Amino acid sequence: MRKKIVAGNWKMNLTFQEADDLLGDLMDRLEEIDELDTEIIICPPFTYLEMATDCCEEYQMFEVGAQNLSAFDQGAYTGEISAAMLESMGVTYCIIGHSERRKYFEEDDKILKAKVDQALENGIIPIFCVGELLPERESEKHFEVVRRQVRHGLFHLDTNEFSKIIIAYEPVWAIGTGMNATPEQAGEMHAYIRKLIDERYGSEVAQATMILYGGSCNSKNVKDIFAQPGVDGGLIGGASLKADEFVSICIQASNI
Ligand code: PGA
Repeated sequence: MRKKIVAGNWKMNLTFQEADDLLGDLMDRLEEIDELDTEIIICPPFTYLEMATDCCEEYQMFEVGAQNLSAFDQGAYTGEISAAMLESMGVTYCIIGHSERRKYFEEDDKILKAKVDQALENGIIPIFCVGELLPERESEKHFEVVRRQVRHGLFHLDTNEFSKIIIAYEPVWAIGTGMNATPEQAGEMHAYIRKLIDERYGSEVAQATMILYGGSCNSKNVKDIFAQPGVDGGLIGGASLKADEFVSICIQASNI
């Protein structure tokens, strides 16, 4: 079985001191565990990436991801952060296509495709998010929506490039709402995404692709969700801001 991945998306939360405290608490708890067979990725805001990469180097217990990167290479793009900058400071992953970026920053398939390319060209592994809105699920368009997002954002890649991608299925109605998808709904969509990958890249690539679930995961519901065949871990928002919760999720992922 593939080793599970648990990624924490801190979003736009925490002051400098709070971020430092949370990292400290996480390391204290993780150090107490004898064996943990989970790959942990922490995705703090840009301002705390250096703090996180320093901590990553010191403790070697997790990898660091960014929450966004520029679709542009470099130059006169005030306020932007490039993939090369992230790579140069030890960041190895980046969330791309999160529904909050699609919604509030109007990031469409074309922009996201460019961001995926920037990431891969600079050695950053994209955690590419897909997921349907509530009306789309209610009208049974969820498979169609996710198919479009996966195809438009990722299927221009060649096999070698695609093999580096992590996908996160995050139904938008489940994000931050406390209303997680049922394990069956998650399992069904993961199987569908894997089928799309199989058709485009073949079964070896499809079987090897990591597909995470995200949306109101917590220490109480992850066991059942992660136990679904084809669910390779989770992208955790709110629960990643509490050390006890997050570490409990990592431990449960390790024990499945
Ligand atoms: P949530 O967020 O766990 O708070 O629902 C998940 C995400 O947006 O990645």
